[in-house]
Amino acid sequence: MKIFLDSARLDEIKQAIDWGVIDGVTTNPSHVKSAGGNPSEIYPEICRLVSGPVSIETIALDAEGILREGRALAGISDNVIVKVPVIREGIKAIKMLSAEGISTNATINFTPIQALLAAKAGATYISPFIGRLDSAGQKGIDLASQIRQIYDNYGFKTQLLTAAIRHPEHVLQSALIGADACTMAFPILAGLFDHHLTDTVLHQFLTDWEEVPKWIGGPYGD
Ligand code: E4P
Repeated sequence: MKIFLDSARLDEIKQAIDWGVIDGVTTNPSHVKSAGGNPSEIYPEICRLVSGPVSIETIALDAEGILREGRALAGISDNVIVKVPVIREGIKAIKMLSAEGISTNATINFTPIQALLAAKAGATYISPFIGRLDSAGQKGIDLASQIRQIYDNYGFKTQLLTAAIRHPEHVLQSALIGADACTMAFPILAGLFDHHLTDTVLHQFLTDWEEVPKWIGGPYGD
């Protein structure tokens, strides 16, 4: 499963790249707002830093407008994935962008049938917002699981990208149902490394090691 960072903050993106665990980045208008800069500078810089796919969202609500924005965004860099909402005009635009060979991420997905339509339109990724469905009293991972089944039933190549991840359990659930990718905010990514027993056992090992005779000139230094 690919891991994407859901952020437009360069400091977070640089740190995640340094950890060596991310395969790409997803942005959205809210992330750009909290990053605090101008998208004309932020988007090219993210694309320069990240070697994998970078999802960048369109703003228009009509297919022609989405197409125009999508072409321009795709022109920023070869690794841009044009992120398009799964509204009627969005699905129409995804079909047109796809016909031009432009990769797309069908976003703000809340039903399996929206995901079916996005796949039929040729979307590269589908982004079900599972955490937001949880907050609405539904089981978000069930949506992702149904999409997995539909895509497998018909051999759709659209990649299942679980989004609106709220905790590491969502990442585990995504991996268990066979999501192709999972995108998460920086604090969740950082939390994936942690378990209190890892810290406890490591501390115990290092404390015991202090009682072991020194290996002069060995691999552990002086
Ligand atoms: C995904 O691509 C979206 O940017 C993101 O996951 C939305 O999540 P949110 O519910 O945290 O805004």
